[in-house]
Amino acid sequence: MKPTSHPELSKKEMLAAVRAGRAAWERRLQELVEIPSVSGDPDRKRDVRRAAESAAQAIRDAGGDAKIVETGGHPLVHGRLRAGDGLPTVTVYNHIDVQPANEPEWKSEPFKLLRKGDTYVARGTTDDKGPALSALAGARLARERGVRANVHFLWELEEEIGSPNFERTIRAHKRELATGSVVVSDTVWVSRRQPACPAGLRGLQGFRISLETGATDQHSGTTGGAARNPVAELADLVAAMVDGRTGRVKIPGFYDDVVKPTRAELRDLARCGFTTAGFKKDHLLRSLRVDDPIEVMKRIWLMPTMEIHGIAGGYQGPGVKTVVPPRATAIVSCRLVPDMKASKIVALVRDFVRARCPDAVVRPEHALEPFRGRTTGSLPDAIRGAMKFAFGKEPVFVREGGSIGAVVSIEKVLRAPVHFLGLSLPEHGYHAPNENFDWRQAEGGMLAFASYFDRVARLG
Ligand code: BES
Ligand code: MN
Ligand code: MN
Repeated sequence: MKPTSHPELSKKEMLAAVRAGRAAWERRLQELVEIPSVSGDPDRKRDVRRAAESAAQAIRDAGGDAKIVETGGHPLVHGRLRAGDGLPTVTVYNHIDVQPANEPEWKSEPFKLLRKGDTYVARGTTDDKGPALSALAGARLARERGVRANVHFLWELEEEIGSPNFERTIRAHKRELATGSVVVSDTVWVSRRQPACPAGLRGLQGFRISLETGATDQHSGTTGGAARNPVAELADLVAAMVDGRTGRVKIPGFYDDVVKPTRAELRDLARCGFTTAGFKKDHLLRSLRVDDPIEVMKRIWLMPTMEIHGIAGGYQGPGVKTVVPPRATAIVSCRLVPDMKASKIVALVRDFVRARCPDAVVRPEHALEPFRGRTTGSLPDAIRGAMKFAFGKEPVFVREGGSIGAVVSIEKVLRAPVHFLGLSLPEHGYHAPNENFDWRQAEGGMLAFASYFDRVARLG
């Protein structure tokens, strides 16, 4: 059924409404970021649930209905702002869980909202509570202006731990979650001046590799030389897997399924506005493996990686303690790009470790497949139009280096296309100390979402 038309949205009128609602929006953001919904911390389980309840309440206060969906782990929130039967439905995906915030460089309390002019500082402000609440405000704007589309919300609380229960849960609730399309707001622009939408996401395969060669610390004077040293062996193993200097993964076959970038993708890289200097500044990096901007972009968006997150074992304290330690662990993950398969990478790493160090134990963890998005068609065009309406500039579509487990599952289970309307900026500090979001992105985001829902409604 073709929806009958509703009035054109006025940017000026909506901006006035958004600005009048700023204090209320900030209170919501404050309430939500002050709940430390760290999904990876078992001691925060009750806080994660409280965050789900607060988020559901925010949807109800915006005029929708919302319920908590159990997953066996942390819950999901499903909300609806209904416009009527037979109208198009678009679902917004965000996550309301956050990373831990124990970095020593925080200048304020990570779970207390600090307002500095137009900037909001706290864990979760940009990843992903601020964008979630901006999308919700955008839905409300659209709703109140008679936009003839149903807007649903699917808010996850296990994104930051690899979405272990997401796919199973949405499969079990497939009928209630049915939707025409999904828009994800959990990604980053190239810069404040250059909006961007992902044309794809990298996948992720995590591992823990551990080695135990004894039972307790032993004196290196009495055992050293003959006793095996698990820290040294793991360091050796890790160095055999990846060249620390160049980042080149040395496991045979690792790059076999990597799809070469198309000419169009390379052209988009060249004109997307990325600079190496800006990248270094935004991420506080002193030097890089390469400086050519195209090379940097290829490495962070188009190529797979193996990253060593930590190697633990042995003595770390003050003074002199000359032990041979009994065990060590390395935490490792690989970012994957189309057409790599997580299961194949697990097999490659397992076989490699087995051949080199047979008594090391490889435990695969979270597996997220890479995602290839669409950049042409009516919905990507609606996103282009909505961003241009709100921010005055069309987004570039370039691939994105991060991973969002839910995306592949949504397309597979709900059979609805997934598109992206992210609002975060590189300098907002994803997963970093002093994470922040800002009113300009929030306000523009509200308008962009309202405009997107309007465009989806007009597509019918
Ligand atoms: N919002 C990010 C994903 C992201 C990162 C998109 C960078 C665009 C650019 C998401 O919250 C995230 O951090 N995902 C994790 C998943 C992991 C912890 C299982 C990631 O990518 O490491
Ligand atoms: Mn996120
Ligand atoms: Mn994140």
